[in-house]
Amino acid sequence: MKVGIAGTGRMGGAIAQRLMGLNHELTVWNRTPGKTKELAAAGAKVAATPAALAENVDTIITILTDDQAIEALYNGPQGLLSGKVAGKLFIEMSTVRPEVQIALEKKVSGKGAALVECPVGGTTGPARDGKLFGFAGGADADVARARPLLESMCRRVEHVGPAGAGTRMKLAINLPLYVYWQALGEALLLCRSLGIGADRLVDILADTSGASNAIKSRGPAVAAFLGGKDPGPPTMTVELVCKDLRTMIAEARAMGGTVPAAEAALKCFEAAARGGLGDKDQSVLPGRWASTAGK
Ligand SMILES: NC(=O)c1ccc[n+]([C@@H]2O[C@H](COP(=O)([O-])OP(=O)(O)OC[C@H]3O[C@@H](n4cnc5c(N)ncnc54)[C@H](OP(=O)(O)O)[C@@H]3O)[C@@H](O)[C@H]2O)c1
Repeated sequence: MKVGIAGTGRMGGAIAQRLMGLNHELTVWNRTPGKTKELAAAGAKVAATPAALAENVDTIITILTDDQAIEALYNGPQGLLSGKVAGKLFIEMSTVRPEVQIALEKKVSGKGAALVECPVGGTTGPARDGKLFGFAGGADADVARARPLLESMCRRVEHVGPAGAGTRMKLAINLPLYVYWQALGEALLLCRSLGIGADRLVDILADTSGASNAIKSRGPAVAAFLGGKDPGPPTMTVELVCKDLRTMIAEARAMGGTVPAAEAALKCFEAAARGGLGDKDQSVLPGRWASTAGK
């Protein structure tokens, strides 16, 4: 199948690697051209514009920073929807507000094409291994059409409703995770005077019912940062976590509800970003809180 990926950032690049490993004929485009170089060296075609990418493939995948990126890439000059796209399938995987996916689905279907949103749980490692958890939103027939490709990227795909439902579910699954990072930081702060080494401390906390699943994969990075070492390259950055938390808070407010735990977590992640950790992995938050006593 001819597949295109517009936006080869951390997640788009990892998904591209996965699909190339499955022998899909892949075309890519990215705003910052340098990020397509490795994929081109591995055999991907590089399109000159998003419009050229959409014209030359059957299915177009996007996984982008936020709603502004979606607007620029789909609706900008030479954007994905600027050429003839009737009959094509778009799979939009970014974490944004549900209303953004709903509006995009209308635009895409107005062009005679189909859109399935499928934001994902899991980070770059699971993306490279085809082990994401996909939350699909869209019409039954469109999701059925997208399913084989989605299943090659995901260990599990749940069709949770029409367009917008997938992002709503995705925001819901990330909320407890971000609150957990902050709660773990506070737990580590309480343990500081014990004098237990970072690796052992994180190992103990990971083996309790207060732990999140995420500690299984990110525990070593948490312990490294807590112990003053390099936690390694980021998978999901502190800046992107702030974007997700702001999106959750806006969504809850639009529903007439409140999410005080998410609001408190946002303040802590924003403080970390102001302290120069915006481009670091989300898992630096607990170590920062414990070592600065929250200051
Ligand atoms: N990282 C994770 O673990 C993870 C997991 C699940 C979901 N997500 C979600 O997936 C999405 C992407 O995350 P990521 O970590 O892959 O982010 P990233 O590495 O920062 O990549 C973002 C992508 O969006 C593109 N982009 C941003 N603004 C643009 C614009 N105005 N016009 C065109 N392209 C634009 C970037 O292009 P440039 O390279 O030119 O900047 C890049 O290709 C986010 O919504 C995030 O919340 C991330």
